[in-house]
Amino acid sequence: MIAKQIEPERLQRQQAISRQVKEQISSRSPTYYIETYGCQMNVRDSQTIAGLLEQMGYLPAASKEEAKVILFNTCCVRDHAEKRLLANIGALKERKDGEEDLIIGICGCMMQQPDTAKKVMNRFPFVNFVFGTNVLWRLPEIIQCALSGERVTATEEEGFAIAEDLPAQRDSQYSAFVNITFGCDNFCTYCIVPYVRGRERSRALVDVVEEVRSLASSGISEVTLLGQNVNSYGKGMDVDFADLLKAVNGVDGIRRIRYMSSHPKDLSPRLMEAIAQNSKVCHHMHLPMQSGSTEILRRMNRNYSREKYLQLVDKLRTVVPDIELTTDVIVGFPGETEQDFLDTLSLMDQVGFSAAFTFKYSPRKGTRAADMPDQIPEAVKKERLQRLNDLQTRKTRENNQKYLGHRGEVLVEGFDQREQTLLFGKLGTFKMVYFPGDKGLLGTYQTVTVTDTAKNSLLGQME
Ligand code: 5AD
Ligand code: SF4
Repeated sequence: MIAKQIEPERLQRQQAISRQVKEQISSRSPTYYIETYGCQMNVRDSQTIAGLLEQMGYLPAASKEEAKVILFNTCCVRDHAEKRLLANIGALKERKDGEEDLIIGICGCMMQQPDTAKKVMNRFPFVNFVFGTNVLWRLPEIIQCALSGERVTATEEEGFAIAEDLPAQRDSQYSAFVNITFGCDNFCTYCIVPYVRGRERSRALVDVVEEVRSLASSGISEVTLLGQNVNSYGKGMDVDFADLLKAVNGVDGIRRIRYMSSHPKDLSPRLMEAIAQNSKVCHHMHLPMQSGSTEILRRMNRNYSREKYLQLVDKLRTVVPDIELTTDVIVGFPGETEQDFLDTLSLMDQVGFSAAFTFKYSPRKGTRAADMPDQIPEAVKKERLQRLNDLQTRKTRENNQKYLGHRGEVLVEGFDQREQTLLFGKLGTFKMVYFPGDKGLLGTYQTVTVTDTAKNSLLGQME
């Protein structure tokens, strides 16, 4: 489904409010601080929130302690992030008591859960406002209310329309995130995302390409195309993800195209060919497997079996031989037996991922899995997670060894704070390499030969 756009008049009204706020606060130059939880989509949303705040005249704060506007951009995929968030908000109560003009807001996925926004507003009377992921564009109006002492709850927006061209404060001058789809239609039985981020909507291909073009003209050379399931980009439209890769590949100034996440059920031969044929598309795919047991995958509603996953990986490696795979795995899904878990270990062993994000299953209220029988005790989840991580540590080491003597291009992304002459950046395959060099090389592409390995990265020498 193509993403519906917010009516221009409504955006213009917000811009007018933004100018009013700017005038109102201009004598004080207040600062803001955003604490971001969760995935890259949230990181990207925080960049838009920062862009909107700066348009209103707010400046970035050096620390949370100094800020006059503090925003928590929340995640609700697992309960760990939720607990951490609630503790961090609670800690601000005392400060707010002595600092009348401090503005505290909470936004993001957690606020899209039914009742959560209301509960948070009741539990923390010192919080000025909460707003959901679909109404970022209303921030000027929300801030204006906060400045006049009015509390606001803004969580729903009918139809989940999106706003193009909102300002964004990006943190890198060379690499940028670009949203291509919003929401998710898959309803994996453990996952809260489809409930909080709504149905899957794709941005028009021309809008994505236009944004990439404008990023390239500002010096960005690497883009990461973001969606819960990028492989299904364009569903219900006359273009697909392969077409989008081809179009972005044609943008001058862009050297690298990354994308995440991919769902195995939508990984078509056509897409594999597009990865192989469009030279700027990086040879790395984040392909969450979640489990190695066909029975658990069925109960997760993943729409593939263990065998299908393996077939896809084999085919992909035939079409794009040097592609590196990373993955997400959940242990302790309801009903997971020791044998199911052993199947997960063996699939991971067989595939050989270069890295894996591993999670203990966390029941999310409102999802189907939360009501399934045979929930797994915490101690068992913990023990399985440990075994899974031990295996992945070994596999990462093996994978790193493969790179000894490898020569490849690295985008220089940063330098080690302690050893200022140690630069780092990634190969196209997403492997991180550290190598000696001058800070002046930030943002450039350098050819590096791998000379040694570390736990999660490689060491090398520049040519
Ligand atoms: N419990 C544990 N992990 C989860 N994920 C999503 N929902 C849950 C949950 N309820 C993991 C999946 C997904 C990643 C982003 O988070 O592995 O791919
Ligand atoms: Fe959640 Fe599954 Fe959608 Fe990923 S594909 S966001 S795990 S429902």
